[in-house]
Amino acid sequence: MVGTRRLLPMALNSHPSVRVLPGSRCTLPLVVWSLFGFIAMFYFYSTLHRHSDLENQIRLNHLAMMRELEEVEEESFHFPTLRGKRSPRAFKRRGPRKPPSVIDEFLDESSDLRSFFFPDHKTAIDPRQDDDVNKYLYPGRIWLDTEGNPIQAHGGGLLFDERRETFYWYGENKDGLTYHAHQKGAARVDIIGVSCYSSKDLWTWTNEGVVLPGDETNITHDLHKLNVLERPKVLYNDKTDKFVMWMHIDDVNYTKASVGVAVSESPTGPFEYLYSKRPHGFESRDMTVFKDDDGKAYLIYSSEDNSELHISPLTDDYLDVTNEMRRILVGQHREAPALFKYQGTYYMITSGCTGWAPNRALAHAAESIMGPWETMGNPCVGGNKIFRMTTFFSQSTYVVPLPGLPGSFVFMADRWNPSELRDSRYVWLPLRVGGVADEPLEYNFGFPLWSRVSVYWHRRWRLPDGWMNAQT
Ligand code: DGJ
Repeated sequence: MVGTRRLLPMALNSHPSVRVLPGSRCTLPLVVWSLFGFIAMFYFYSTLHRHSDLENQIRLNHLAMMRELEEVEEESFHFPTLRGKRSPRAFKRRGPRKPPSVIDEFLDESSDLRSFFFPDHKTAIDPRQDDDVNKYLYPGRIWLDTEGNPIQAHGGGLLFDERRETFYWYGENKDGLTYHAHQKGAARVDIIGVSCYSSKDLWTWTNEGVVLPGDETNITHDLHKLNVLERPKVLYNDKTDKFVMWMHIDDVNYTKASVGVAVSESPTGPFEYLYSKRPHGFESRDMTVFKDDDGKAYLIYSSEDNSELHISPLTDDYLDVTNEMRRILVGQHREAPALFKYQGTYYMITSGCTGWAPNRALAHAAESIMGPWETMGNPCVGGNKIFRMTTFFSQSTYVVPLPGLPGSFVFMADRWNPSELRDSRYVWLPLRVGGVADEPLEYNFGFPLWSRVSVYWHRRWRLPDGWMNAQT
């Protein structure tokens, strides 16, 4: 204490403007450092606070956006009345006429319900005229490209090119005459080729042309117009800097059951067709490809008369399958696979096998992409029972992750129109992963290990504002 008192005048003398309280050992550097520390702490605290405010704001926005997408929307339509009475003889033989099923009505071009499922050109989504701010998607409506032509990209899939910050939509161009090659054969359109469209916002699509054309003259070519080219999907290979397209290649009777591979330097083609094969010697019909976070890619295809799916890693250049193959969903008769990943878990949506007619979707999940895969039940939510039992009258083709909204995806499906295949429609809906799966699961002693996959019906919806960068 004494010492302190003695030091005091010295301090006051040398720094007359600084007042130091009696009894303290304070020096000027200490004061300056304290001040500095205080300012630094204040800055740190306010930055932290600002960040958590920002994070909270983002979280709130995210929740609000999600709430909008997850609203359960009901759908109703008038069930058609019976058309024409049965003659007394027919009545005796076959009983009263059964009302046509809604699926029959859906498939019948002359049905009163036709315009409900296939609204006409007047209601088309038209980026040239519609409100560019709202960018509403209307599942089932005609969707026009930036030139005002209906988009021709059926059974398709998307590729997001990070360098170009652009989405590319590849799909079957079915803009030809629908006919039956045989009385019992499925409705078909000659191969025109694979179309590509580009977009920055998933709403406005520019036609980049036919990037892999069919062949008009060479009857031995896989892509000869009388064959079948379906479900094209494109992956970017980081190692080779090439874009690789995989597709279902078949003959008119679907007996060739093969996959085809094509490659290009650019996302907009032209793609060079390389070859087709039966992977591992097995039939391959509906298929998709999936690129994992580690750059490894996989082919998933319906095989053994569509009774099961097979999965195989691709080679490093993505131009072939490796020798490894696993059978999955054995005996489940699934097709139209669309695979995606969320928080380390793999998910897949598939359809049943009913030709062009719609049926019930199922969601599946796996810890390892090579399986085992478990079936979780029907992902469809909203609409009405028949909507849910028919995947909203459509069939899965691809699931697009939304970069800025973790857990949110766009479910892409085709509403096939077998009487006029070129007029098939697109059903794009929000897909969320979250909540508890609703079917007892095989591998976990009944404990739900996976989150539920939900596809929400909306007559009209839009991607939430800022969906590209909602996290940043
Ligand atoms: C169902 C498939 O998913 C479609 O890609 C197409 O092959 C049709 N069958 C043909 O009937």
